[in-house]
This record gives sequence, C-alpha cells and structure tokens, in this order.
Amino acid sequence: MNAVLKKNAARCEVSSFAIRAERPSDVAAREALLDASFGADRHARTCQRLRDGRKPVEGLALAAVSNGELIGTVRLWHVSAGGIPALALGPLAVAAVHRSLGVGAALTKRALDLAQAHGHGAVILLGDAPYYARFGFSTVKTGNLLLPGPFDRDRLLAVELRKNALEAAAGRIVPTGARVSRMRRCHAREIARPMPCAA
Ligand SMILES: CC(C)(COP(=O)(O)OP(=O)(O)OC[C@H]1O[C@@H](n2cnc3c(N)ncnc32)[C@H](O)[C@@H]1OP(=O)(O)O)[C@@H](O)C(=O)NCCC(=O)NCCS
Repeated sequence: MNAVLKKNAARCEVSSFAIRAERPSDVAAREALLDASFGADRHARTCQRLRDGRKPVEGLALAAVSNGELIGTVRLWHVSAGGIPALALGPLAVAAVHRSLGVGAALTKRALDLAQAHGHGAVILLGDAPYYARFGFSTVKTGNLLLPGPFDRDRLLAVELRKNALEAAAGRIVPTGARVSRMRRCHAREIARPMPCAA
C-alpha cells in the first residue's frame, strides 16, 4: 500500500520532463544515477568494454530532465558488429522515483529516432528482452554475434533501423567510436568519484 502511495505521489510531482542532449554539467548527476541504478561495480560489466575510453556518438548522449534535475540517461556508441557498422545502446537508466512514467521509453524512442535520422542501420544492446521488445529489439539478428566478455545470449538484442542491416552480422562486437583523450578520461573520473586520478 505504501509503495502504491509513494508511486502515485511521484506521478503527481512529475508533471513533465524534457529530453535534450547531455551537457558537460550533467556528468556528475549521470554517474551518480548510474551508480544508483546498476551498482558501483557496473564498470566490470561486459557492455562497458564497448564504451571504455570512447566518446558516445555525437548528438546521441541524451538526458531526461525534470525541474532542472537529471532524471534519466541514455547514450549510443559506435561499434562494429562482426564487421557491420552499428550502434550500441546503454546504459539506460531512470531515477527510481521517476520510473514507470514513460521516461525510459521516451529516452529510448528518441535515441532510436535520432539514430535512424542520422542514417544508422542498427542498434544493439545487452538488456532485458521483456523491456526492450516494445521498441523492436529481439535476438533474431544477434545469434552469430559475440561480445568482448561473458554475456547471456537471451539478453543480446538488436533492432534494425534499415531493413536487413544486420543480415550478415557475424563475429565479435567491438568498439569503433572516437577515443576520449587521456586528460578528459581523468577529468570525467574525478567528477564521478572525488579521488585522485593516477592512471
Ligand atoms: C529499465 C528502466 C530504464 C525503465 O525506465 P522507466 O522510465 O521506468 O520505463 P517506462 O516508464 O518507459 O516503462 C515502465 C514499464 O516497463 C517495465 N519495466 C521496467 N524494467 C523492466 C525490465 N527490466 N523488464 C521488463 N519490464 C520492465 C515496468 O514494470 C513498467 O511497466 P508498467 O508500465 O506496466 O508499469 C528503469 O527501470 C531503470 O532505470 N532501471 C534500472 C536500470 C536498468 O536496469 N536499466 C536497463 C534495463 S535492461
């Protein structure tokens, strides 16, 4: 009962949210949201290997904001899916108090619409099929693909934005995005975690 009341209270508080391109000033809030959503060990996940030291796709790092507060995040990353250019989506997260209000769906749809508008052929992710199926993601075209680390095959999903873009996709998914400069990497880590950057 309490949980229901809390959820309804959150629905009343959030009258609206907006989705916009992520800004440098969003980084600390984004990292805190990701830690809260996935746990502090999230950097050890296999998907992170597609993002390490890379920049997200230009214009495809999105933030959901409500009353000036970052409440959701999603980013897309350039990858090669067994030689086929594609994008990897993730992490997608919405602040717990703002969930089930359509923020995650709005972020995902906007990311897919922008990716298609920019001419990208396919988006891949490692995630829960029961959530992502509503956006067209499935395992249909990922059976011959591998990630750079352990993964659950039922969670390797893809959606084609261009018909048959992943038809011949077979092999390892590897990152292909522009590299982050070493200085920016240290800076980002210091914003995310207030500790000296030795690397
Ligand atoms: C997954 C997540 C981004 C969804 O954000 P959201 O803003 O709540 O999503 P939406 O409002 O668009 O959709 C909510 C619906 O999806 C369902 N849903 C949420 N996560 C789900 C999951 N992993 N599997 C199946 N359904 C899920 C909710 O139960 C809800 O259903 P309802 O509308 O019937 O109540 C959010 O729950 C989150 O940040 N979770 C923690 C991080 C995470 O697991 N991210 C990746 C998911 S693989």
